[in-house]
Amino acid sequence: MLVHGEIFRTDQLDGFAMEEQGQWIGLVTLFISVSGCEIISLNSLQEGRGIGTRLIEEVIAVAREKKCWRVFVATTNDNLHALGFYQKFGFELAALRRGAVSESRKIKLQIPLTGYNDIPLRDELELEILL
Ligand SMILES: CC(C)(COP(=O)(O)OP(=O)(O)OC[C@H]1O[C@@H](n2cnc3c(N)ncnc32)[C@H](O)[C@@H]1OP(=O)(O)O)[C@@H](O)C(=O)NCCC(=O)NCCS
Repeated sequence: MLVHGEIFRTDQLDGFAMEEQGQWIGLVTLFISVSGCEIISLNSLQEGRGIGTRLIEEVIAVAREKKCWRVFVATTNDNLHALGFYQKFGFELAALRRGAVSESRKIKLQIPLTGYNDIPLRDELELEILL
């Protein structure tokens, strides 16, 4: 994953997986630093069943344990679904990084030009929950 110009190898990050009958149905990965506890990836394989919410709750519990001052996540301008999901949970918009995805595309050429709903994929939006 390429987020705010940094490369993260999700297979080397901490995180939580949710399992049902031996199959993964959700996965969240995170990275803790002085900037707080950052959600690097969040994927629910069965949407609308509360999996995403449960995974975020785990992240918040860990962030509190580790005395992080906030949990934050970057999503892309096209991901209206994730923007709704995070805000409904209680995250607030914290930053707009205009052109961040366009910059990442120069390094990771496979990032498409358009994303969800055929929206041009350009910017990163950061959302946070202060702990
Ligand atoms: C975003 C994502 C993780 C949500 O996971 P999920 O398992 O569907 O989430 P939940 O079932 O816990 O839904 C939580 C709540 O958010 C609501 N919600 C979901 N999508 C929403 C939207 N677009 N707008 C507003 N609310 C939304 C749900 O209705 C639910 O509310 P409820 O508890 O009152 O029923 C999932 O859609 C996903 O994997 N998306 C693809 C990858 C991605 O975009 N990841 C995030 C970017 S880092």
